Amino acid sequence: MSTFTPRLGVNIDHVATLRQARRSAYPDPVTAAVMAEMYGAAQITCHIRSDRRHIQDADLPRLRDAVQTQLNVEMAATVEMIELVGSILTTQPNRHRITLVPENPTEITTEGGLDVCKHHQLITHTVAKLRQQQIAVSLFVDPDLKQIEASNIEGVDMIEINTAKYAEGDTEDIIRIKNAALCAQSLGLTVAAGHGLTHHNLDYLVRAVPEIIEYNIGHSIVSRSVFVGWEVAIRDLLQIIERTK
Ligand code: PXP
Repeated sequence: MSTFTPRLGVNIDHVATLRQARRSAYPDPVTAAVMAEMYGAAQITCHIRSDRRHIQDADLPRLRDAVQTQLNVEMAATVEMIELVGSILTTQPNRHRITLVPENPTEITTEGGLDVCKHHQLITHTVAKLRQQQIAVSLFVDPDLKQIEASNIEGVDMIEINTAKYAEGDTEDIIRIKNAALCAQSLGLTVAAGHGLTHHNLDYLVRAVPEIIEYNIGHSIVSRSVFVGWEVAIRDLLQIIERTK
């Protein structure tokens, strides 16, 4: 068992989803981010989508300035996003992070990891552009060894393994996640994981794959907070991570 305690990254997208449902000023994802940090989050994630369904452009500089830990912005590898997010995060060199994710306008949520093998040139070019702006870069990938090996791109220091299949009940996927994490580690890449994680399925993953140093969790925290509150929803996950170390 590892003695290292992984970090919890809190994804605040769905606080913004609730705000956008009424195009109101509340609930404010920036307030959610600041409070999440107070309750122990070590990183704040948001995803700026091309359709702006939750996080808006104006949220990004506010988040950049308010977040005291690290802001991790998920985005597609498009010219629009490189220019928008790059120009906002570059003002604080090497402090914040971008995670490149695939994006399909008709999806309800991110449906899978990047196909780094297929889009190697585009991703390499995007990483180089972001690194020129001194922004740390991660790639969101499926637990597939070919994708992990292809992610070993100059300028990429971290991968985030997609845990969606495991979270949907395919516990056999834990073996693929474990092998992917070991492969990434052997390449010198730091390992994060996320998608679909909850207070029910996190414990087993933390025990089985101690190579993961960061968990990015959003939908289940926001959903559960409706009933138990933001603080309890976050602290319960931290407790799971703590007790399994
Ligand atoms: N990691 C990535 C790359 C994601 O796209 C998402 C969803 O936005 C998450 C983690 C968080 O997933 P969930 O909201 O299911 O916890």
